[in-house]
Amino acid sequence: MQRRYLVAGNWKMNGSYGANAALIASLKQRAGEYDAVEIVVCPPAVYLESVGRELADSPLLLGAQDLNEQATPGAFTGEILGAMLAEVGCRYVIVGHSERRALYGETDLRGAEKFAAAQAARLIPILCVGETLEERKNGSTESVLQRQLEAVIEACGIAAFANAVLAYEPVWAIGTGHTASPEQAQAVHAFLRSELAKRDAIIADSLRILYGGSVKADNAAQLFAGADVDGGLIGGAALKAADFLAICLAAQKSSRS
Ligand code: 13P
Repeated sequence: MQRRYLVAGNWKMNGSYGANAALIASLKQRAGEYDAVEIVVCPPAVYLESVGRELADSPLLLGAQDLNEQATPGAFTGEILGAMLAEVGCRYVIVGHSERRALYGETDLRGAEKFAAAQAARLIPILCVGETLEERKNGSTESVLQRQLEAVIEACGIAAFANAVLAYEPVWAIGTGHTASPEQAQAVHAFLRSELAKRDAIIADSLRILYGGSVKADNAAQLFAGADVDGGLIGGAALKAADFLAICLAAQKSSRS
């Protein structure tokens, strides 16, 4: 199965009108060269509409960083409904990022609810899973990933993964500069795919699995070379046009090799 590479920039809580416009202008100049790669930017919610407008005549796609788990509007102060994200032009939405799990108490179940809410709004969820350093050290990486994945399979069904993206983001590699080695990343990606293949081999084969955690211009090519690594979810390096474009180029080259 030829899976199209996807490189998504998670801007996290960074940006301003000026910085966003400069970044998008630089990305737009080059984005057309990476025709084998789907490129997504995920700015903070308050900037989605303005960034979306700037992306309008480009192949770049818009994604959100989070959504509320409800399927319909209501009294949920401060929250954002999936349909609203779709209305301002989002195609993707990140779900279950480890920062949301660790800092805002998001459970596996809440992640599953958000995954369902995203799809109900015709958004493509980018479901993040990943183990902490402690979990890796005590040998529970696979059981943690199984648990995180199982919560979504149980709530949404395996068929829901036909229209989703999975992101393996080891918590110990996020923002630390300590990326997983290409071998570590590939081993986990293969594990995740095999877990899904137990339920549905065709869906597992077509699912894109991104790696996230200290992906940089100088390590992206090695990481993307893994047979089950279909792109990246990029944090810090997504804020600098040259770095993000270099990562997109690495994906473009990987897709041809
Ligand atoms: P860094 O690339 O800054 O490590 O962040 C990764 C991440 O969390 C993307 O969602």
